[in-house]
Amino acid sequence: MKFTIAVIPGDGIGPEVTAQAKKALDAVAEAYDHIFLYKEAQLGSCAIEATGNPLPFETIEICKNADAILFGAVGDPKYDNDPSAKIRPEQGLLQLRKELDLYCNVRPLKAYDNLISTSPLKREVIKNSDFVIYRELTGGIYFGKKELSQDQKTASDVSTYTVDEISRVTHLAFQAAQKRSKKVTLVDKANVLETSRLWRKTVAEIAKEYKDVKLEYLFVDNAAMKLILDPKQFDVILTENLFGDMISDVASALCGSIGMLASSSIGDKNGLFEPIHGSFSEAKGKDIANPLASILSAGMLLKYLGLHEEADAIERAVEKSLALGITTEDIKRKMQKSTTTSKVGDFIADYITNQDDSNMNFQNIHMGQSTII
Ligand code: IPM
Ligand code: MN
Repeated sequence: MKFTIAVIPGDGIGPEVTAQAKKALDAVAEAYDHIFLYKEAQLGSCAIEATGNPLPFETIEICKNADAILFGAVGDPKYDNDPSAKIRPEQGLLQLRKELDLYCNVRPLKAYDNLISTSPLKREVIKNSDFVIYRELTGGIYFGKKELSQDQKTASDVSTYTVDEISRVTHLAFQAAQKRSKKVTLVDKANVLETSRLWRKTVAEIAKEYKDVKLEYLFVDNAAMKLILDPKQFDVILTENLFGDMISDVASALCGSIGMLASSSIGDKNGLFEPIHGSFSEAKGKDIANPLASILSAGMLLKYLGLHEEADAIERAVEKSLALGITTEDIKRKMQKSTTTSKVGDFIADYITNQDDSNMNFQNIHMGQSTII
């Protein structure tokens, strides 16, 4: 089949990890006889430099016309350290989410057996953890009115949610739970926030339509603690925009590295796939960043396109790279040597096109040669 994929490499390590995800997609195209047409677009700090705008109009058009969007990362320390900057790279991503109405952000977390020793948690706590965060992505405090007083001594960010905004992501979370372990945990701050109380009321009402799914509630502070103490209790976590941003970073640390976490941002018309890590500018151009989150995001993209077998092939290749220790520094196990971003990508692509282990020469991997005999 033929698909058009918008590719937005973005800032920092975005281009180098996205290049590895494209290698994986090219390998899938070859192995399963598909055609992926890539349309590259700019967003973020690189777009500001080229056009003065973090989200050029052309980027929106390319994304709207594509079957799916592969995104790298956004952000630059130049802006992080300048609170008075009027134009910021992140605005590009936030505007794109809003423009395409990508209201549901899905972040799966899984404790890979081969990464348990890199997790900061004890083996028995992390082992077999497997949950997914459904984060509302186009509402709440991220998109409310922002004000700074004339004398610059008072600032405010307004958080607003409507029943409709809560409902649409909630349905998707419950449908996901029906296909998993049938439990939804709503994470909020209903003891303090009016928006959270509206979430509870709305979600409780919708839960009645999904009688096979158990609904639990947790305050976000408590949820952050429980994620560390007992991550196995979670199946589907449903939460608002800001809390979802925070707890997904907490959760990512459990799996050994934020460099492992993929995500999808889904709307009714478009889907965008991106690693949850940021632009990690210190590592830019050094060929050391972990490309697996981006590669796994490409896997989620394939699923979205209905290519399930192909997505499984990506996941199997990732599992294999972990089993063989062909990894970047962040998830390197004791007594093992790490390799580069591009070599991890080469291995994954080789493994996808050549899924029979007997054709692989594992000796060559660390020497940077092709793994296919
Ligand atoms: C994320 C990121 C973004 C967010 C930033 C880059 C705007 O941290 O996708 O988690 O806060 O949503
Ligand atoms: Mn984040």
